[in-house]
Parts: sequence; C-alpha cells; structure tokens
Amino acid sequence: MLMEMVKLLFSRYSEMVPPNRTNFVEGDVSDQTGKVFLVTGGSSGIGLELSRILYYKGGRVFIGGRSETSFAAAVESIKSAPAEGCENSKVRGTLEFLAMDLCDLTTIKHAADELLSKVDRLDIAWYNAGVMAPPAGSKTKQGFELQWGTNVLGHFLLNKYLSDLQMKTAKNAPRGAVRTIWVSSIGHNLGPKPNLINIDDVNFENVSNPDPWVGYGQSKAGDIVLAYEYANHVSGSGIASFSVHPGNLKTNLTRHQGIWGQKLAQRVLKEPRYGALTELYAGFSDEPIDNDLSTKYIIPWGRIGRMNETLNMALQNEDFGTKVWNLCEKQVAPYD
Ligand SMILES: NC(=O)c1ccc[n+]([C@@H]2O[C@H](COP(=O)([O-])OP(=O)(O)OC[C@H]3O[C@@H](n4cnc5c(N)ncnc54)[C@H](OP(=O)(O)O)[C@@H]3O)[C@@H](O)[C@H]2O)c1
Repeated sequence: MLMEMVKLLFSRYSEMVPPNRTNFVEGDVSDQTGKVFLVTGGSSGIGLELSRILYYKGGRVFIGGRSETSFAAAVESIKSAPAEGCENSKVRGTLEFLAMDLCDLTTIKHAADELLSKVDRLDIAWYNAGVMAPPAGSKTKQGFELQWGTNVLGHFLLNKYLSDLQMKTAKNAPRGAVRTIWVSSIGHNLGPKPNLINIDDVNFENVSNPDPWVGYGQSKAGDIVLAYEYANHVSGSGIASFSVHPGNLKTNLTRHQGIWGQKLAQRVLKEPRYGALTELYAGFSDEPIDNDLSTKYIIPWGRIGRMNETLNMALQNEDFGTKVWNLCEKQVAPYD
C-alpha cells in the first residue's frame, strides 16, 4: 500500500512536470496512406497539431468541429507548415470537415451519418474537443452542464454511431491498430468527491454556486470512465480504448480564464505539439497495447500513467463504470 501511494504521488508530479524528453515522435509513425482518422476539435490547439502530423503521414483526416471558417484556417496552417520531421517527405493525406456541435446533441447523428456515407473504415478516433471552466451556469442546447454535455455526452453519442464501423475495421486490421482515444486531463482529479462524478446530479442542480473547475474535473473523469467502460464493451472486438492527459499546453482552452490567465498560460506552458505527440502515442504506440492494464490512462509525453486512485477503485469495485455508462445512455436517449 505504501509503495502504491509513493508510486501515485510520483505519477502525479510527473504528470504536472513531465520530463523534457518525448517518448514518441512523428518519426515513430509509418506511412498511413489508406487509413481513416477522426479528430474532434482538430481546428485548434492540440487537435490541430495532431491533424498536421496525420496529414503529413498520408492519412485521410476528418476534423470534427462547429466552424467551417476555423477548419479552413486549420487547413491553411497545416498545408503551409509540415509536421516536424516530415519536411522532406512527399507523403500527403487529405483533410475533410465534419460539422458537429458537441454541445448540441441534435447535430451528432448527422455528423456521424456524413462520415459513414464517405468511408468504409475508421482506424482511429480521437475524441479531443473540449471546453474548460466556462462561466458558471453555462449549459448545452439540451440544458446539460456545458462541460459534461460537450466533453462527455457529445462524444458518447458520436461514439455510439461510429462503434460498428470501428469494429468492422478492426476485423481486418492488425492487433491494436484500431483505437478510440478519449482526451481527458490531469484536471480529472478536481471532480466532485468521492468518485469525481456526481452521478446523481451531474448538472449540479442541487449545488449552490457550482464551481466550473469541479465541472471540468467531472467531465474529464467522465472521459476516463468512458474509455475504461468502452474497452469492456468492445472487449474481444480488436478495438483498443484509452484515455489521455495530453499535458499542460498553450492553446485556446484557457479562453474562459481572462486575459491574465491566458497570458500566464502562454508564458509557462509548452507548445501544443507536445500534447499532439502524447495523443499520437495513444493512437500508435505498441506500449499501451503490450502492457495489459485494464485502466490505461496515458500521460505526457507518451507514457502509461495512473488515474485518480479513488476513481480507479470505484471502477474496479463499485461497478461505477456501468453506472456512468447507463447514465450517459439515458441522457442521450432522446437524441439517439
Ligand atoms: N491545453 C491543455 O493544457 C490541456 C490539458 C489537459 C487536457 N486538455 C484537453 O485537450 C483537448 C484539446 O484542447 P486544447 O488544449 O487543444 O484546446 P483548444 O485549443 O481550445 O481546442 C479545443 C477544440 O475543441 C473544440 N470544441 C469546443 N467545444 C466544441 C463543441 N461544442 N463542438 C465542437 N467542437 C468543440 C474547439 O472548437 P471551437 O474553436 O469551435 O470552440 C477547439 O477546436 C481538450 O479535451 C482539453 O480538455 C488540454
């Protein structure tokens, strides 16, 4: 037990202040021509850098987002600056827009149908889009707490529609090649006590002055639980499902933190490429496949980490994953 605690403390510190060395880089990914990828939130920040790498590796990259203008800017950025190490390569993929507003569940089926009408495989889906600590009381179109609705429910519903295609893809793919990556955060530790998800009141309707950071933590704990529970649901299908804390990075995620919060972030945080490399590791490294850990949670810059221990215990002993999964099923049911 003492050793476990020491390991946990070390893991948390190392998540906050990762070593400078990156374990996995662009050059570790081979030519991906013929493969199909989805990156939600791929027009900005980490998702943009991940999409850049996938494009220069030859992938057919679908970028899920709510603004075609942001997508066009992302395409321009990607085409004008190759991913690191790809400067001398002639390999190029394609970039396609997939309109979806994750905070409006009525848009998700249309987005999924569009993707399903265009492709006959889906190798890796990165559920990367997210919102962090918006003004207190922010809600989705359907009235869910904004972060729970966007970061968790939007991706949960999207995944429901895409799961069959990934299963089909996995049938003819090498072991571990088809993956679903749920982007979480070290911030999941901020979720409400004890299990980091207020399962009876995810919208904090019975909490006075709900703290948006607790809501962020809850939503990111939700992403970890979905990664874990989805892995159970598709066990034996060939799909691998992991959660990732990409690291603390200079992106637009701090947009709700005011000018000083944003300035500070720009000063102290790393370039978003590092986060993209961590998500890339989650998508392509053999390491998390070979180490048979049921609670795979990946940390910067490409390492297997440890999720919050209380959450882990709840998943192992209280059937907490099933409870959260069933709650999500119930919440998205009217829009399915
Ligand atoms: N940056 C960090 O330090 C950090 C640390 C831990 C975890 N993360 C996680 O990493 C992921 C990527 O974040 P980032 O840092 O790259 O932030 P970012 O630059 O703000 O990118 C987030 C992306 O999500 C999209 N998005 C937000 N709400 C959406 C919605 N309702 N529908 C569709 N797309 C939506 C945004 O699109 P719009 O421009 O349209 O809003 C944007 O493209 C997030 O899940 C975040 O929680 C980031």
